[in-house]
Amino acid sequence: MKKALHTRNPPSETGTNDSHPQAEELQPMPVLEECLIEEMQDLLHAEGQLVKALPKMAKAANDPKLKQAFQKHLEETKGQVDRLKEAFELLGQRAKAKPCRGMQGLVEEGQEKIAEGQDKEAAAADLALVAAAQKVEHYEIAGYGTARVMAERLGQAKVAKLLAQTLSEEEKTDALLTQLSPPLLEEASSESGEEEEEEQPSRSRSRRSRAAGV
Ligand SMILES: [Fe+2]
Ligand SMILES: [Fe+2]
Repeated sequence: MKKALHTRNPPSETGTNDSHPQAEELQPMPVLEECLIEEMQDLLHAEGQLVKALPKMAKAANDPKLKQAFQKHLEETKGQVDRLKEAFELLGQRAKAKPCRGMQGLVEEGQEKIAEGQDKEAAAADLALVAAAQKVEHYEIAGYGTARVMAERLGQAKVAKLLAQTLSEEEKTDALLTQLSPPLLEEASSESGEEEEEEQPSRSRSRRSRAAGV
């Protein structure tokens, strides 16, 4: 791995740097490249967390289209991890994840929504999942958007292209979640919180009704 010497951390007073004995390793890494790599390390950790979280979101979703959307995005997310690894390789860096606390918090919120959804009507539980998932996508859009611009500025066209591909997938996922919301909103707004009428289609029946076998 090309170990960078930060330009804002000069060598020791003796003019040597014992931890970086190789002459080539003393080349300072441009600050912008360092920023890009840190952003990619954050995103790698974020995507790794999502590979574990998305199957739980898919399992919890009541609406078949929402379930399918989570399953599809799980497969895309696995590809996004590979894309990031490829980008690290292009930059001559080891693909190292840096703990992403932002995504950790968002994933924890998603898990809370799954747990709380057990006691909610199907549409209300799904809407909470959509909200949690869109927060995740917006976090990723911010991260990939920033990283892509930095890669472009560094003249790393191939890296920028990889980041742009993932950015596009995140934007499409966000748009798909928005598209899936209206029927859920309608269903939730028609629910009074009381037991539903028997002629309601099965998809709109509450979890409580289904559990009771009615
Ligand atoms: Fe992603
Ligand atoms: Fe995503």
